[in-house]
Amino acid sequence: MSSPLDPQTSGAPLTSVDPGAGRRAPRAHADSDAPRLDLAGRWRFNLVPRPDLATTGFADPAFDDASWAQLDVPGMWQLQGYGSPAYTNVRYPFPIDPPFVPDENPTGEYRYAFECPPDWPAGAAVLRFLGVDSMFAAWLNGAELGWSTGSRLTTEFDVGPHLRAGTNILAVRVHQWSPASYLEDQDMWWLSGIFRDVAIIARPAGAIDDVFVHADFVAGPDVGGETGTGTLRIETAVPALLTIAELGLHHVPAAGPHTLAGVEPWSAERPRLYDAELSAGGETTRLRIGFRTVVVAGGLLTVNGRRILLRGVNRHEWNPDRGRAVTAHDMRADVLLMKQHNINAVRTSHYPPHPDFLALCDEYGLYVVDECDYETHGFYFTGWRRNPSDDPRWRPALLDRMRRTVERDKNHPSVIMWSLGNEAGHGQNLAAMSALARDRDPGRPVHYEGDQDSSHVDVYSRMYASHDEVDAIGRFAEPVTADPTADAHRRGLPFLQCEYAHAMGNGPGGLLEYQQLFEKYPRCQGGFVWEWIDHGIRQVAADGREFFAYGGDFGEPLHDGNFVADGLVFPDRTPSPGLREYKAVIAPVRLHLEPGQVMVTNLLDFADTAALRFVWTHEAEGARVASGELVVAPVAAQRTATVPLPALQPVAGESWLTIRAVLAADAPWAAAGHEVAVGQRMISPARARVPRAGALDRDLFDARTGLLTRVGALRVDGPRLDLWRAPTDNDRGEHGSPLEPAWRSLGLDRLTHRILDRGWTAAGFVLRTRVAPAATDLALLATYRWSADGDALVLVIEVEPEGDWTEPLPRLGVRMALHAAIDDVEWFGGGPGEAYADSNQAAVVGRYRRTVEELGTPYVFPQENGNRRAVRWAQLRGPAGGLRIEGDPTVELTVRRWTSEDLDAARHTTDLHPRERVYVNLDAAQNGLGTASCGPGVLPEHRLDAVARSWTVRLRPSTP
Ligand code: GAL
Repeated sequence: MSSPLDPQTSGAPLTSVDPGAGRRAPRAHADSDAPRLDLAGRWRFNLVPRPDLATTGFADPAFDDASWAQLDVPGMWQLQGYGSPAYTNVRYPFPIDPPFVPDENPTGEYRYAFECPPDWPAGAAVLRFLGVDSMFAAWLNGAELGWSTGSRLTTEFDVGPHLRAGTNILAVRVHQWSPASYLEDQDMWWLSGIFRDVAIIARPAGAIDDVFVHADFVAGPDVGGETGTGTLRIETAVPALLTIAELGLHHVPAAGPHTLAGVEPWSAERPRLYDAELSAGGETTRLRIGFRTVVVAGGLLTVNGRRILLRGVNRHEWNPDRGRAVTAHDMRADVLLMKQHNINAVRTSHYPPHPDFLALCDEYGLYVVDECDYETHGFYFTGWRRNPSDDPRWRPALLDRMRRTVERDKNHPSVIMWSLGNEAGHGQNLAAMSALARDRDPGRPVHYEGDQDSSHVDVYSRMYASHDEVDAIGRFAEPVTADPTADAHRRGLPFLQCEYAHAMGNGPGGLLEYQQLFEKYPRCQGGFVWEWIDHGIRQVAADGREFFAYGGDFGEPLHDGNFVADGLVFPDRTPSPGLREYKAVIAPVRLHLEPGQVMVTNLLDFADTAALRFVWTHEAEGARVASGELVVAPVAAQRTATVPLPALQPVAGESWLTIRAVLAADAPWAAAGHEVAVGQRMISPARARVPRAGALDRDLFDARTGLLTRVGALRVDGPRLDLWRAPTDNDRGEHGSPLEPAWRSLGLDRLTHRILDRGWTAAGFVLRTRVAPAATDLALLATYRWSADGDALVLVIEVEPEGDWTEPLPRLGVRMALHAAIDDVEWFGGGPGEAYADSNQAAVVGRYRRTVEELGTPYVFPQENGNRRAVRWAQLRGPAGGLRIEGDPTVELTVRRWTSEDLDAARHTTDLHPRERVYVNLDAAQNGLGTASCGPGVLPEHRLDAVARSWTVRLRPSTP
């Protein structure tokens, strides 16, 4: 079938479900010494709005492209001034009419002139594209090479006969939309072009071409499994010679099997690689071999014979300026940040990453679930009618994708599992993809979450299962499969959450409770937080400030807003509070302090704790009293040791002992001293307060409102009951149970305050109010009892609900406003970062100091942020004096230059402008965060219900 829109000069057939034509067979991505030309650079570029407007003769070497613009390759054209980015999550941005795509199909024409050096060898050569989105055809020196799809898969063409000495002209035509777009609906920006490297690689006669390394490991008798027997088999199309100097192999026939004693295994914890060289036909290929065996056995996913626990993240490729054209620096930054935050696994959602990323995972140690470039989620809207997963016409395309995934990445020890794709429904083609992967590579289990009965997979996988569901699965008490014949198979499988804890905006909450389940049930082997990075696009606002754009910011008629910003790191890779929380929750060493001793539990699967030092500090109100180092003999993997605590000198007042597990020496991924885990225990409690004499000035309170007007000389807009927080993405709960609509319909964002009575008593001043939104008879009765304690104003707030409150409250506290010159906040309490009831594991009790700006977290979509918990006291300072706030015993504290209402109204960070006041919230509590942006909401124990409650804060003037 040919479309009337096919470009006259042929090229890629825009209505074909075939995956491509003219391509070489897929093979491993290898690092060989064969001559190579890197074709990255400024290419000539012309964008036409429709394929039928393609430039006739553009592939002709003689074509004059001098008037064309220039574009960076690798790169994405929408991020270089051509067309615009567009974001949808599940919905296709074109009619569901497979295999057709709209006539309006932006088509990029690329031309690149490159020199073939005089010493370039005659003979075979390949042109290799690592990624082109979405369909393309290529011509070298006017000769048509073929066409391909599979945006994030390698395509190679034979070009030896077409290469010439001197100048060569490569022409490539890329269509934004193609039949393959139906297979690539992966919840990300729709972006186009040649976005990964392009190279020409010589293929010497008799060269190795493809290689498949099988390097298995069986642990030896030593307890740590530190060495064992490696079995090495290397498949090559032509006989090749192998050298692994470290293992005493020199120019031996590669095929083997070679049985090697005393081999050190590869794992994410100890990523031992052996450098190898393979040579044949004048070509030498460098391999980095990791010996490891991955098997599902006895219902467990094992590496080198042991159950592993996946502390993972889902990673899309992202750079806020370049889109998916990530740089070597981006890839390394991701790996280092993951390692520094205790992450040990990555699911490459939802496509194979740039191959260099996998080489970094091999080197630094991360387990990888390598996912095929495949998702058809948009067919959900047609009841999965005509879903490619179950249509035989698409089978060649789907098998092509699976084959190219496996062939390209098969030699990476880090890849422990193949994934068929994501959210592509079910059907015979998925079964065939699974069969292909298992047949070609029996050494790796197969994953696909959409196979809900797990008929074609080796692990039971779910996404966003609630804590209760995970608990049931851990107990093998999950409901039977839809097809009962599959049930026994699924019950014999290990379980993982391929996605959980949706890290959108402020959150996720509830990570700790998931981790407890993963550690409780052997079957539950962890999971992958959704997701690693916010895909925000860096933009500059009219006032020159930068912000990150999300769906809808480019005028897309159909979009899914900021659902594209749901990562643990911001678009520029700044870690978010959620990442720090995850780091604490998944810390591989747990320090449980008890009176006189600390239990050191090593949660690693292989390595002992020899790489760590354990340093302690004893602090009184956050000021160091003593410090030292604990001697902890190496604790073996999965073992606990009890170590006596140092003798501490008694101190007056609240003191804490903090033990930090830090790297003893530089690791490849962090410097010596890097903190891996922290544990804390209170050693002595705060001194009991001795009430002091004091009197309240009669003029402290506004005669009209009854609210406080000053603390000492500092003007304040009195503390007043406040229930509102700018809804978080999890409160908005797009794919969960949202709280925001109920909160808004109740009117918690528009409370009114009515004075019931006020007056002076022997103890001080009392103000009684009724706080309620319009159009309801629900209310909170709030009583403010003010008294004096020396120079401190003591406020006891009592709140009592009236009526039938069924929804949790966003927050329960008071808000006041201070002079804008206040900028310096020091506190003793939880920190240094923000924390919430169900995201509190990274908070360490100590003394911290931040500016008002530093207290805030600039979520891509503005929302509640910056809360500090368990604050004993805080000192807010400005040039002209300030305020000391004391909890009794603690209070939650937020300080910012705008109101919750401003935050609520803002759509981008640049919508927020400092006001003339600094706003301070002093809360008894806030509702937890949960993860209802996609998944379960706040767990009952972290819910803030409207119940009678009272809390106390103390305010004192302070001098600068
Ligand atoms: C999942 C999907 C991901 C992402 C996530 C929500 O269903 O697999 O690609 O869309 O939801 O952010």
